[in-house]
Amino acid sequence: QAQRRLVSRQRFLQDFSQCLFDFVIQLLPTTEEMAVKEDVRKLLERLIRTIEPDSRLLSFGSSANGFSLKNSDMDLCCLIDSGERLNASDLVTMVGDLLERETKFHVKPLPHARIPIVKLNLDPSPALPFGIACDIGFENRLALENTRLLMCYASIDPARVRTMVLFLKVWSKRRKINSPYKGTLSSYGYVLLVIYFLVHVKNPPVLPNLQQMPPLRPISEEETHLNGHNIWFFDDIELLRQRWKSSNTDTVADLLIDFYKFYSRDFAYNTGVASIRAGLLKKEDKGWLSEPSDYGTARERNRLCIEDPFETDFNVARCVTKDGLYTIRGEFMRASRILQARPERAILALAQLCE
Ligand code: GTP
Ligand code: MG
Repeated sequence: QAQRRLVSRQRFLQDFSQCLFDFVIQLLPTTEEMAVKEDVRKLLERLIRTIEPDSRLLSFGSSANGFSLKNSDMDLCCLIDSGERLNASDLVTMVGDLLERETKFHVKPLPHARIPIVKLNLDPSPALPFGIACDIGFENRLALENTRLLMCYASIDPARVRTMVLFLKVWSKRRKINSPYKGTLSSYGYVLLVIYFLVHVKNPPVLPNLQQMPPLRPISEEETHLNGHNIWFFDDIELLRQRWKSSNTDTVADLLIDFYKFYSRDFAYNTGVASIRAGLLKKEDKGWLSEPSDYGTARERNRLCIEDPFETDFNVARCVTKDGLYTIRGEFMRASRILQARPERAILALAQLCE
Protein backbone atom coordinates (compact mmCIF):
# COMPACT_ATOMS: atom_id res chain seq x y z
CA GLN A 1 0.00 0.00 0.00
CA ALA A 2 2.73 2.45 1.06
CA GLN A 3 4.78 1.51 -1.98
CA ARG A 4 1.78 2.11 -4.25
CA ARG A 5 1.16 5.48 -2.69
CA LEU A 6 4.77 6.50 -3.22
CA VAL A 7 4.67 5.50 -6.87
CA SER A 8 1.45 7.39 -7.45
CA ARG A 9 2.89 10.50 -5.72
CA GLN A 10 6.01 10.25 -7.93
CA ARG A 11 3.84 10.00 -10.99
CA PHE A 12 1.79 13.01 -9.87
CA LEU A 13 4.95 15.09 -9.40
CA GLN A 14 6.19 14.18 -12.87
CA ASP A 15 2.84 14.99 -14.47
CA PHE A 16 2.54 18.19 -12.52
CA SER A 17 6.00 19.36 -13.64
CA GLN A 18 5.05 18.68 -17.25
CA CYS A 19 1.75 20.55 -16.80
CA LEU A 20 3.61 23.53 -15.38
CA PHE A 21 5.97 23.67 -18.39
CA ASP A 22 3.08 23.36 -20.87
CA PHE A 23 0.99 25.94 -19.03
CA VAL A 24 3.78 28.50 -18.86
CA ILE A 25 4.85 28.10 -22.48
CA GLN A 26 1.46 29.11 -23.84
CA LEU A 27 1.56 32.25 -21.71
CA LEU A 28 4.84 33.56 -23.12
CA PRO A 29 4.64 36.62 -25.39
CA THR A 30 4.66 35.83 -29.12
CA THR A 31 7.61 36.96 -31.25
CA GLU A 32 5.17 39.29 -32.97
CA GLU A 33 4.23 40.96 -29.69
CA MET A 34 7.90 41.38 -28.79
CA ALA A 35 8.64 42.90 -32.21
CA VAL A 36 5.79 45.41 -31.88
CA LYS A 37 7.03 46.41 -28.43
CA GLU A 38 10.57 46.86 -29.71
CA ASP A 39 9.21 49.12 -32.47
CA VAL A 40 7.35 51.16 -29.87
CA ARG A 41 10.52 51.50 -27.82
CA LYS A 42 12.46 52.74 -30.86
CA LEU A 43 9.74 55.21 -31.80
CA LEU A 44 9.62 56.64 -28.27
CA GLU A 45 13.41 56.84 -28.17
CA ARG A 46 13.48 58.78 -31.43
CA LEU A 47 10.91 61.24 -30.12
CA ILE A 48 12.62 61.77 -26.77
CA ARG A 49 15.88 62.46 -28.60
CA THR A 50 14.29 65.57 -30.09
CA ILE A 51 14.36 66.96 -26.52
CA GLU A 52 17.52 65.23 -25.21
CA PRO A 53 19.78 64.21 -28.14
CA ASP A 54 22.10 62.21 -25.86
CA SER A 55 19.42 59.98 -24.41
CA ARG A 56 18.84 56.23 -24.64
CA LEU A 57 15.61 54.45 -23.83
CA LEU A 58 16.17 51.02 -22.27
CA SER A 59 13.82 48.22 -21.25
CA PHE A 60 13.81 46.94 -17.70
CA GLY A 61 11.42 44.84 -15.61
CA SER A 62 9.79 41.78 -17.11
CA SER A 63 10.41 42.67 -20.76
CA ALA A 64 14.16 42.53 -20.02
CA ASN A 65 14.58 39.95 -17.24
CA GLY A 66 13.19 36.80 -18.81
CA PHE A 67 9.99 36.79 -16.74
CA SER A 68 7.52 38.34 -19.14
CA LEU A 69 4.07 37.03 -19.93
CA LYS A 70 1.74 37.85 -22.83
CA ASN A 71 0.52 41.44 -22.65
CA SER A 72 2.66 42.40 -19.70
CA ASP A 73 3.38 46.10 -19.46
CA MET A 74 6.57 47.72 -20.73
CA ASP A 75 8.94 49.31 -18.24
CA LEU A 76 11.27 51.79 -19.95
CA CYS A 77 14.06 53.84 -18.48
CA CYS A 78 15.53 56.91 -20.15
CA LEU A 79 19.24 57.49 -19.56
CA ILE A 80 20.84 60.77 -20.51
CA ASP A 81 24.54 60.62 -21.18
CA SER A 82 25.38 64.32 -21.43
CA GLY A 83 26.55 66.12 -18.31
CA GLU A 84 23.95 68.83 -18.08
CA ARG A 85 20.39 67.71 -17.98
CA LEU A 86 16.98 68.66 -16.72
CA ASN A 87 15.71 67.12 -13.49
CA ALA A 88 13.41 64.10 -13.66
CA SER A 89 10.21 66.05 -12.83
CA ASP A 90 10.77 68.61 -15.61
CA LEU A 91 11.66 65.85 -18.05
CA VAL A 92 8.48 63.98 -17.20
CA THR A 93 6.42 67.09 -17.91
CA MET A 94 8.22 67.87 -21.19
CA VAL A 95 8.26 64.31 -22.49
CA GLY A 96 4.60 63.97 -21.49
CA ASP A 97 3.67 67.06 -23.56
CA LEU A 98 5.71 65.84 -26.51
CA LEU A 99 4.19 62.35 -26.58
CA GLU A 100 0.72 63.78 -26.16
CA ARG A 101 1.25 65.86 -29.33
CA GLU A 102 3.13 63.32 -31.42
CA THR A 103 1.61 59.89 -30.64
CA LYS A 104 -1.71 58.12 -30.25
CA PHE A 105 -0.92 57.12 -26.68
CA HIS A 106 -3.04 58.28 -23.77
CA VAL A 107 -0.42 60.11 -21.74
CA LYS A 108 -0.34 60.68 -18.00
CA PRO A 109 2.75 62.42 -16.62
CA LEU A 110 3.39 61.86 -12.88
CA PRO A 111 6.18 64.40 -12.23
CA HIS A 112 5.78 64.35 -8.44
CA ALA A 113 5.78 60.59 -7.76
CA ARG A 114 8.61 59.06 -5.62
CA ILE A 115 10.05 57.97 -8.95
CA PRO A 116 8.69 60.45 -11.53
CA ILE A 117 7.30 58.63 -14.59
CA VAL A 118 5.22 59.15 -17.71
CA LYS A 119 2.43 56.58 -18.04
CA LEU A 120 1.36 55.63 -21.56
CA ASN A 121 -1.57 53.57 -22.78
CA LEU A 122 -2.45 52.50 -26.29
CA ASP A 123 -6.02 51.40 -27.06
CA PRO A 124 -6.52 47.83 -28.27
CA SER A 125 -6.45 47.28 -32.05
CA PRO A 126 -6.70 44.16 -34.24
CA ALA A 127 -2.89 43.84 -34.24
CA LEU A 128 -2.69 44.46 -30.48
CA PRO A 129 -5.88 43.11 -28.95
CA PHE A 130 -4.82 44.15 -25.45
CA GLY A 131 -3.25 47.49 -26.31
CA ILE A 132 0.00 48.50 -24.67
CA ALA A 133 0.71 49.85 -21.21
CA CYS A 134 4.07 51.47 -20.69
CA ASP A 135 5.85 53.47 -17.99
CA ILE A 136 8.83 55.67 -18.79
CA GLY A 137 11.15 56.65 -15.93
CA PHE A 138 14.38 58.64 -15.97
CA GLU A 139 17.87 57.79 -14.76
CA ASN A 140 16.67 54.81 -12.73
CA ARG A 141 19.96 52.97 -13.12
CA LEU A 142 19.37 50.76 -10.06
CA ALA A 143 16.27 49.31 -11.73
CA LEU A 144 18.37 48.43 -14.79
CA GLU A 145 20.89 46.68 -12.55
CA ASN A 146 18.33 44.70 -10.55
CA THR A 147 16.73 43.67 -13.85
CA ARG A 148 20.13 42.37 -14.98
CA LEU A 149 20.56 40.50 -11.68
CA LEU A 150 17.19 38.77 -12.07
CA MET A 151 17.99 38.01 -15.70
CA CYS A 152 21.23 36.30 -14.63
CA TYR A 153 19.40 34.22 -12.02
CA ALA A 154 16.81 33.25 -14.64
CA SER A 155 19.44 32.11 -17.09
CA ILE A 156 21.40 29.88 -14.67
CA ASP A 157 18.59 27.31 -14.53
CA PRO A 158 15.84 28.53 -16.86
CA ALA A 159 13.80 25.33 -16.81
CA ARG A 160 13.23 25.49 -13.07
CA VAL A 161 13.63 29.19 -12.23
CA ARG A 162 11.66 30.70 -15.10
CA THR A 163 8.91 28.10 -14.85
CA MET A 164 8.47 28.72 -11.13
CA VAL A 165 8.55 32.49 -11.42
CA LEU A 166 6.23 32.67 -14.42
CA PHE A 167 3.77 30.29 -12.83
CA LEU A 168 3.77 32.25 -9.56
CA LYS A 169 3.25 35.51 -11.45
CA VAL A 170 0.17 34.13 -13.22
CA TRP A 171 -1.08 32.47 -10.07
CA SER A 172 -0.70 35.63 -7.96
CA LYS A 173 -2.52 37.69 -10.60
CA ARG A 174 -5.36 35.18 -10.90
CA ARG A 175 -5.68 34.95 -7.11
CA LYS A 176 -5.62 38.76 -6.93
CA ILE A 177 -2.67 39.10 -4.58
CA ASN A 178 -0.44 41.05 -6.98
CA SER A 179 -1.46 44.69 -6.35
CA PRO A 180 0.79 46.87 -4.19
CA TYR A 181 -1.89 49.57 -4.48
CA LYS A 182 -4.33 47.29 -2.68
CA GLY A 183 -1.94 46.11 0.02
CA THR A 184 -0.52 43.00 -1.61
CA LEU A 185 2.84 42.31 -3.29
CA SER A 186 4.37 43.45 -6.61
CA SER A 187 5.65 40.97 -9.19
CA TYR A 188 9.16 42.13 -8.31
CA GLY A 189 8.48 41.13 -4.69
CA TYR A 190 7.33 37.63 -5.69
CA VAL A 191 10.41 37.13 -7.87
CA LEU A 192 12.63 38.04 -4.92
CA LEU A 193 10.74 35.55 -2.70
CA VAL A 194 11.41 32.79 -5.25
CA ILE A 195 15.12 33.61 -5.55
CA TYR A 196 15.48 33.85 -1.77
CA PHE A 197 13.90 30.40 -1.50
CA LEU A 198 16.15 28.86 -4.17
CA VAL A 199 19.37 30.42 -2.83
CA HIS A 200 18.88 30.39 0.94
CA VAL A 201 16.13 27.96 1.89
CA LYS A 202 16.60 24.94 -0.34
CA ASN A 203 19.37 22.69 0.80
CA PRO A 204 21.31 21.94 -1.35
CA PRO A 205 20.61 25.29 -3.00
CA VAL A 206 19.24 25.46 -6.54
CA LEU A 207 21.00 28.79 -7.23
CA PRO A 208 24.30 30.29 -6.08
CA ASN A 209 24.37 33.69 -4.37
CA LEU A 210 25.61 35.88 -7.23
CA GLN A 211 26.20 38.88 -4.96
CA GLN A 212 28.57 36.95 -2.68
CA MET A 213 30.67 35.12 -5.26
CA PRO A 214 34.26 36.36 -5.47
CA PRO A 215 35.01 38.51 -8.53
CA LEU A 216 37.44 37.13 -11.12
CA ARG A 217 39.72 40.16 -10.78
CA PRO A 218 40.06 42.88 -8.16
CA ILE A 219 37.52 45.66 -8.74
CA SER A 220 37.58 49.21 -7.51
CA GLU A 221 34.95 50.78 -5.28
CA GLU A 222 34.03 53.07 -8.16
CA GLU A 223 33.15 50.18 -10.45
CA THR A 224 30.99 48.44 -7.87
CA HIS A 225 29.05 51.37 -6.44
CA LEU A 226 26.15 53.40 -7.81
CA ASN A 227 24.65 56.25 -5.75
CA GLY A 228 26.24 54.74 -2.64
CA HIS A 229 24.82 51.24 -3.28
CA ASN A 230 26.98 48.20 -3.90
CA ILE A 231 25.67 46.85 -7.20
CA TRP A 232 28.33 44.23 -7.83
CA PHE A 233 27.32 40.68 -8.69
CA PHE A 234 28.87 37.81 -10.62
CA ASP A 235 27.43 38.26 -14.10
CA ASP A 236 29.58 36.03 -16.30
CA ILE A 237 26.82 33.55 -16.99
CA GLU A 238 28.75 31.52 -19.54
CA LEU A 239 31.48 30.86 -17.01
CA LEU A 240 28.97 30.20 -14.29
CA ARG A 241 27.18 27.60 -16.41
CA GLN A 242 30.50 25.76 -16.78
CA ARG A 243 31.53 26.03 -13.14
CA TRP A 244 28.35 25.91 -11.11
CA LYS A 245 26.23 22.83 -11.04
CA SER A 246 23.55 22.54 -8.37
CA SER A 247 23.41 19.19 -6.64
CA ASN A 248 19.74 19.81 -6.01
CA THR A 249 17.77 17.52 -8.33
CA ASP A 250 14.22 18.47 -7.28
CA THR A 251 11.70 18.81 -10.07
CA VAL A 252 9.91 22.09 -10.56
CA ALA A 253 6.82 20.49 -8.99
CA ASP A 254 8.77 19.55 -5.84
CA LEU A 255 10.15 23.07 -5.63
CA LEU A 256 6.78 24.75 -6.06
CA ILE A 257 5.17 22.56 -3.40
CA ASP A 258 8.03 23.32 -0.99
CA PHE A 259 7.82 27.01 -1.83
CA TYR A 260 4.15 27.12 -0.83
CA LYS A 261 4.82 25.10 2.30
CA PHE A 262 7.71 27.32 3.35
CA TYR A 263 5.87 30.61 2.89
CA SER A 264 2.67 29.34 4.48
CA ARG A 265 4.21 28.27 7.76
CA ASP A 266 7.99 28.37 8.07
CA PHE A 267 9.12 31.86 7.10
CA ALA A 268 9.58 34.10 10.17
CA TYR A 269 7.14 36.82 9.09
CA ASN A 270 7.13 38.57 12.48
CA THR A 271 10.86 38.95 12.95
CA GLY A 272 12.59 38.06 9.66
CA VAL A 273 13.71 39.92 6.56
CA ALA A 274 14.22 37.94 3.34
CA SER A 275 17.43 39.16 1.71
CA ILE A 276 18.71 37.51 -1.45
CA ARG A 277 22.04 39.26 -0.77
CA ALA A 278 22.53 38.12 2.83
CA GLY A 279 20.00 35.40 3.69
CA LEU A 280 17.63 35.68 6.62
CA LEU A 281 18.08 38.97 8.49
CA LYS A 282 16.32 40.36 11.55
CA LYS A 283 13.82 43.22 11.32
CA GLU A 284 15.26 44.50 14.58
CA ASP A 285 18.80 44.75 13.19
CA LYS A 286 17.62 46.70 10.17
CA GLY A 287 15.41 48.97 12.26
CA TRP A 288 12.42 47.69 10.28
CA LEU A 289 9.99 47.20 13.12
CA SER A 290 6.32 47.08 12.27
CA GLU A 291 5.18 50.59 13.02
CA PRO A 292 1.72 52.01 12.51
CA SER A 293 1.88 54.51 9.63
CA ASP A 294 -0.23 57.59 8.92
CA TYR A 295 -2.96 55.53 7.34
CA GLY A 296 -4.25 54.04 10.56
CA THR A 297 -3.62 50.79 12.34
CA ALA A 298 -4.67 48.50 9.49
CA ARG A 299 -1.79 49.77 7.42
CA GLU A 300 1.66 49.09 8.71
CA ARG A 301 4.81 49.38 6.76
CA ASN A 302 6.97 46.43 7.71
CA ARG A 303 4.57 43.51 8.05
CA LEU A 304 6.38 41.64 5.32
CA CYS A 305 10.05 42.49 4.82
CA ILE A 306 11.95 41.82 1.60
CA GLU A 307 15.26 43.64 1.24
CA ASP A 308 16.00 45.11 -2.18
CA PRO A 309 19.19 43.47 -3.52
CA PHE A 310 20.98 46.81 -3.98
CA GLU A 311 18.95 49.46 -2.15
CA THR A 312 19.38 47.59 1.11
CA ASP A 313 17.54 50.19 3.20
CA PHE A 314 14.47 49.70 1.04
CA ASN A 315 11.70 47.21 1.87
CA VAL A 316 10.27 46.00 -1.44
CA ALA A 317 7.17 44.74 0.43
CA ARG A 318 6.50 48.02 2.26
CA CYS A 319 3.04 48.29 0.65
CA VAL A 320 1.85 44.99 2.06
CA THR A 321 -0.73 45.64 4.79
CA LYS A 322 -1.79 43.44 7.65
CA ASP A 323 -4.85 42.32 5.71
CA GLY A 324 -2.79 41.93 2.55
CA LEU A 325 -0.31 39.63 4.28
CA TYR A 326 -3.14 37.64 5.83
CA THR A 327 -4.63 37.14 2.37
CA ILE A 328 -1.28 36.24 0.79
CA ARG A 329 -0.50 33.67 3.48
CA GLY A 330 -4.02 32.30 3.15
CA GLU A 331 -3.36 31.80 -0.55
CA PHE A 332 -0.03 30.05 0.11
CA MET A 333 -1.88 27.72 2.49
CA ARG A 334 -4.68 27.09 0.01
CA ALA A 335 -2.16 26.19 -2.70
CA SER A 336 -0.24 23.97 -0.32
CA ARG A 337 -3.43 22.17 0.65
CA ILE A 338 -4.45 21.58 -2.96
CA LEU A 339 -1.07 20.11 -3.83
CA GLN A 340 -0.82 17.93 -0.70
CA ALA A 341 -4.30 16.48 -1.11
CA ARG A 342 -3.21 13.68 -3.47
CA PRO A 343 -5.02 15.15 -6.47
CA GLU A 344 -6.12 12.59 -9.03
CA ARG A 345 -4.88 14.48 -12.06
CA ALA A 346 -2.16 17.10 -12.26
CA ILE A 347 -3.99 19.22 -14.79
CA LEU A 348 -7.01 19.50 -12.48
CA ALA A 349 -4.81 20.51 -9.56
CA LEU A 350 -3.28 23.24 -11.71
CA ALA A 351 -6.67 24.50 -12.82
CA GLN A 352 -7.89 24.56 -9.23
CA LEU A 353 -4.77 26.44 -8.09
CA CYS A 354 -5.38 29.23 -10.59
CA GLU A 355 -9.16 29.35 -10.29
P1 GTP B 1 4.98 42.44 -14.53
O1 GTP B 1 4.92 43.91 -14.83
O2 GTP B 1 3.89 41.98 -13.59
O3 GTP B 1 5.13 41.58 -15.72
O4 GTP B 1 6.31 42.19 -13.68
P2 GTP B 1 7.73 42.90 -13.68
O5 GTP B 1 8.76 41.81 -13.67
O6 GTP B 1 7.85 43.94 -14.73
O7 GTP B 1 7.75 43.50 -12.24
P3 GTP B 1 7.30 44.92 -11.70
O8 GTP B 1 6.43 45.61 -12.67
O9 GTP B 1 6.82 44.69 -10.29
O10 GTP B 1 8.68 45.69 -11.57
C1 GTP B 1 9.41 46.08 -12.71
C2 GTP B 1 10.80 46.53 -12.31
O11 GTP B 1 10.69 47.72 -11.54
C3 GTP B 1 11.55 45.53 -11.45
O12 GTP B 1 12.26 44.60 -12.23
C4 GTP B 1 12.45 46.44 -10.70
O13 GTP B 1 13.57 46.73 -11.52
C5 GTP B 1 11.64 47.71 -10.54
N1 GTP B 1 10.92 47.75 -9.27
C6 GTP B 1 9.63 47.43 -9.05
N2 GTP B 1 9.28 47.58 -7.77
C7 GTP B 1 10.37 48.02 -7.17
C8 GTP B 1 10.64 48.38 -5.84
O14 GTP B 1 9.80 48.33 -4.93
N3 GTP B 1 11.91 48.77 -5.61
C9 GTP B 1 12.85 48.86 -6.56
N4 GTP B 1 14.06 49.26 -6.27
N5 GTP B 1 12.63 48.54 -7.83
C10 GTP B 1 11.41 48.13 -8.12
MG1 MG C 1 6.42 45.43 -15.26
